[in-house]
Amino acid sequence: MQKLAIQGGAPLRGEVRISGAKNAALPIMCASLLTAETLHLTNLPDLHDVGTMRKLLLQMGVTAEMATGEVTFKGDGVTNWEAPYDMVKTMRAAILVLGPLVARFGDAKVSLPGGCAIGSRPVDLHIKGLQAMGAEIAIEHGYIHAKAKRLKGARIFFDIVSVTGTENLMMAATLADGVTVLENAAREPEVIDLADCLRAMGAQISGDGTDTVTITGVEALHGATHRIMPDRIESGTFLVAAAATGGSVTLRETRADILETVLEKLSEAGAKIKVDGDSIHLEMTGRPKAVNVRTAPHPAFPTDMQAQFMALNCIAEGSSMVVETIFENRFMHVQELRRLGAQIDVEGNTSVVKGVDHLEGATVMATDLRASACLVIAGLVAQGETVIDRIYHLDRGYEHIESKLSQLGANIRRIK
Ligand code: UD1
Repeated sequence: MQKLAIQGGAPLRGEVRISGAKNAALPIMCASLLTAETLHLTNLPDLHDVGTMRKLLLQMGVTAEMATGEVTFKGDGVTNWEAPYDMVKTMRAAILVLGPLVARFGDAKVSLPGGCAIGSRPVDLHIKGLQAMGAEIAIEHGYIHAKAKRLKGARIFFDIVSVTGTENLMMAATLADGVTVLENAAREPEVIDLADCLRAMGAQISGDGTDTVTITGVEALHGATHRIMPDRIESGTFLVAAAATGGSVTLRETRADILETVLEKLSEAGAKIKVDGDSIHLEMTGRPKAVNVRTAPHPAFPTDMQAQFMALNCIAEGSSMVVETIFENRFMHVQELRRLGAQIDVEGNTSVVKGVDHLEGATVMATDLRASACLVIAGLVAQGETVIDRIYHLDRGYEHIESKLSQLGANIRRIK
């Protein structure tokens, strides 16, 4: 199993280009199932999850022509409507094929995702929404089997805000008969990016980016070209790493408007931030100040940035509270941070972090994608060497992380 070895202490300095967003790319790739025509995507990140999704689509009969950072899908030969357990268990986002398959082919068989490191993460809202649109759904042998002649528009209220739930039903509704209204929908920027792509394919969607999304179904969608939006979580991760190490970095090809709460928190921690078009510059002098963080659906503070801010708080001046309201078990990084000398108490969904003046390098284990990013940040500030085991989690969601960090002056290498 591959590991990362980091020699801490070097402040990050320089420029880095931000990649296309994983969480926009995955649903948008699934939109290729909605049409027989070509879907050309650019700014596609080179990530393990993107590879897994491509493999799944190929298995179904979609063709894919790859070039660096680009792909052209064609869904005219789809004959297999099944997403097997092996794929769904490694990448929950595979559930996003369910809506498109049942909408276009009237049949889909998708494995239930099962548990994962950060909690049970059910998909009941995806299922209930499709049932409300007239799909007949049976859960058999660990699979969701959905059938429908043609989905019908419906009014669907989400009890809990769900990002992929909103995306799955939005895609399904594009080909349904009549109008679908999604209430208490997710407002994440990736939902808007998917809606933009679907509109380019001929879908009629309005209200994306608010909590009420309205979709008027059409008979068929057509081909389109779409550029994947920048990754706000990768952007935030580099900014926190720069702030924690007392560095000075410029992110290129990103967007400040999708990072508002993260930038506010970094300013509160003492960082100086300048935005210039699609660039964000951050400079940090001295020790960061501890900042309280409470995760909640967009536009509030993203759960996918919680672990990284925890790493920052570990070496900050003062104490902070980190409250996780989205996932039930998203403090797996706490035990690993303690191995580096962090002082953290956990009570239910709240962590109290007492900033210490330094961390010490040790061997730690990555448990999930964002927890891994948190350990990288901790390793960059710790004295001596930190070795992070199980970094396949990082490769799922961060494009070429060690070369990007090396480019910024980090002393980091992959042990194969
Ligand atoms: C997406 C993101 C993930 C991010 C998360 C929250 C992708 C590919 N992944 O995950 O990076 O951390 O949003 O911002 O975009 N829930 C239910 N029933 C459902 C669906 C969800 O109870 O049917 C619950 C979940 O267990 C969780 C909450 O709703 O507690 C939010 O989950 P959701 O927004 O669905 O997360 P994902 O879409 O899986």
